Amino acid sequence: MSVLSGKNILLGVTAGIAAYKTAFIVRLFIKAGAHVKVVMTPASKDFVTPLTLSTLSKNPVHSTFYTKEDENELWNNHVDLALWADYFVIAPATANTLSKMANGTCDNLLLATYLSAKCKVFFAPAMDLDMYLHKTTVENLKKLASYGNSMIPAESGELASGLHGEGRMADPENILLFIEKEILSGLPLKGKKVLITAGPTHEAIDPVRFIGNHSSGKMGFELAKEAANLGANVTLVSGPSNENINHAFIQRVDVISAEQMYKAVHQYYKNCDIAILSAAVADFKPSSVASNKIKKKGVGLTIELTQTKDILASLGREKKHQFLVGFALETTNELENAKGKLHRKNLDLIVLNSLNDKGAGFKKATNKVTIIDAEENCTEFEMKSKTDVAKDIFTEILKRHHV
Ligand code: CTP
Repeated sequence: MSVLSGKNILLGVTAGIAAYKTAFIVRLFIKAGAHVKVVMTPASKDFVTPLTLSTLSKNPVHSTFYTKEDENELWNNHVDLALWADYFVIAPATANTLSKMANGTCDNLLLATYLSAKCKVFFAPAMDLDMYLHKTTVENLKKLASYGNSMIPAESGELASGLHGEGRMADPENILLFIEKEILSGLPLKGKKVLITAGPTHEAIDPVRFIGNHSSGKMGFELAKEAANLGANVTLVSGPSNENINHAFIQRVDVISAEQMYKAVHQYYKNCDIAILSAAVADFKPSSVASNKIKKKGVGLTIELTQTKDILASLGREKKHQFLVGFALETTNELENAKGKLHRKNLDLIVLNSLNDKGAGFKKATNKVTIIDAEENCTEFEMKSKTDVAKDIFTEILKRHHV
């Protein structure tokens, strides 16, 4: 899966002959799993039709500040377009548009959108060779780079003028590769290995019954997604969970019992950089598992339980270079208990959930946490979606773990 999967990409098309290739660019972005919208300069419509690009992008294409619909004129909000985008890719970018971008000119919708954009901007110049080498163009390109924009260098080849040389817009495949590579290289956890546990464990009583808990696994799955979005290679060791995950950087290892989770976690721990144990591991398991289904005998049933291995504590004992994060689910003396666990299990951070907080805990889409570090600095967060809690947890990790 591409790093562009699920991202919003705004493609800006300007009036160069290479505009005919934008149909392929849109297709590649869509295939990479991105959501695509297109904004065009009015003159670019002579080279490729808005109908082609709206059909491929599955979104209306805008090129003017107003659209006439029946008797009404609708304002095309360039600010909304710019804020929607995670990435703005201007391809082809003509000498004229580049010059206007470098100087803040704002005489069409594409340029107004560029000036409103807060996201990362890529541009792929396309022009004849002498125009590309002209001092003005060279200065404009330097200026645009100094503003934080990324240039996808033009390639050499036959140009529309019949001349041969540099200035041809990069091939659509190369545009995609350039963007993916640049995004990846800027990610803070690029190449790092992150180990995450999620979900409950099930401890067998007999072939059909088990002891379990209400954990859905959602928090751990959100942590795995966030780690992958930050560029990490993630191993997600999950107990029985209905959550789904599909990301090129996430390897899912399914387990059932605490013992299986213990073994799987130890297999990956040595080489990982960050380990986050969010699983609700059963603390007790039946001392023996009946090989056949236990029959009713008209009296009660007593099951003897023994303690499972504490996976987190065992990682704390073996810790070398790893940054170790645990969770604590508490009902009383929350802060004191969490701090106790943090030190006892040799953790770098502990994420405290209190069951006394509404909106926190099992099977909820939200969570409310307090994060405590090894120096006992506490950061209390508002109630948030588990997606945003995962973001907060990684922000706190990255503040303390220099990767
Ligand atoms: N944990 C673990 N292995 C276990 C039990 C818990 O790895 N057998 C981990 C959980 O994934 C979590 C942390 O330990 O990150 C805290 O779990 P919790 O059940 O709150 O605490 P316990 O250590 O079991 O302590 P207590 O029973 O005193 O609450």
